[in-house]
Amino acid sequence: MLRKRFFMTVSLCLLLFLGGVVPATAQHGMGHKGADEKGPAILLVTFGTSIPSAQAAFANIEEKVRAAFPDVPVKWAYTSYVIREKLAKSGQHLDSPEVALAKLMDEGCTQVAVQSLHMIPGAEFHELKVNAGAFKGMVDGFERLLVGYPALSTSEDLTKAADAVMTIIPKERKKDEAVVLMGHGAHHPSNAVYEAMMYRLQRRDPNVYMGTVEGTPSLDDVKGMLLSKGVKKAWLMPFMSVAGDHAVNDLAGEEPDSWKSVLTEAGIACEPVIRGLAEYDAFVDIWLDHLKVVMAHLK
Ligand code: CO
Repeated sequence: MLRKRFFMTVSLCLLLFLGGVVPATAQHGMGHKGADEKGPAILLVTFGTSIPSAQAAFANIEEKVRAAFPDVPVKWAYTSYVIREKLAKSGQHLDSPEVALAKLMDEGCTQVAVQSLHMIPGAEFHELKVNAGAFKGMVDGFERLLVGYPALSTSEDLTKAADAVMTIIPKERKKDEAVVLMGHGAHHPSNAVYEAMMYRLQRRDPNVYMGTVEGTPSLDDVKGMLLSKGVKKAWLMPFMSVAGDHAVNDLAGEEPDSWKSVLTEAGIACEPVIRGLAEYDAFVDIWLDHLKVVMAHLK
């Protein structure tokens, strides 16, 4: 009770204090050179990758985003500290979302569309929402800042993604051969999206399977399903925006615990296809659709 009253008093003082500085803020805001004439900026946020060949996926996203919004500046941010450090050693400097937003704010940008390039609305997306949101309450900060959803956020997204998968399966694959997709997986509740994806996929093609590296369904789950169906051959494809380390090593690597090795050992011939989802336009369109929704709210 006492505690509650204390917070109420503090909040009231804070309100009065903020109320007091508003006119000064507005005045200072007017001095912001040309800030009002500036249109919105787009900040694309991904986990990142240090594998050069995987960059093709990001290049494709950027090309599509620039084509959709020709006059809007496009910036990138990587959430992974490890990857940013790795790239910095080779002279490539990538910002975290927080640094990228601070720079945009510094440049007088008043409206930002932050587009998550994550697959699921998991921990990284929610952290991004919290930290990006913190930039909204700042003096002389952004007037508008909106965060676009990751690829697999709505039921409509799952439909689009399942349809898109059907179009990217290699033509050489025969119907009795399985297609095994490797999602990242998470401990976050939104990991359930992968289970939902398997359902959507199997309604279109019963021989397409979804597994994850760190969540469920696991490789063991998928292996069990393949064996119970007597599958003899499987096409392995990453279900991630880029074909990075997980695709190259965990999916198709020569180590005994890679998916390729484990399934081969179980008597299933494996054919890996190392391409990130963002290299396919049908998938880029899903992120782009979310960005379009956000941009429609900015001027
Ligand atoms: Co990972």
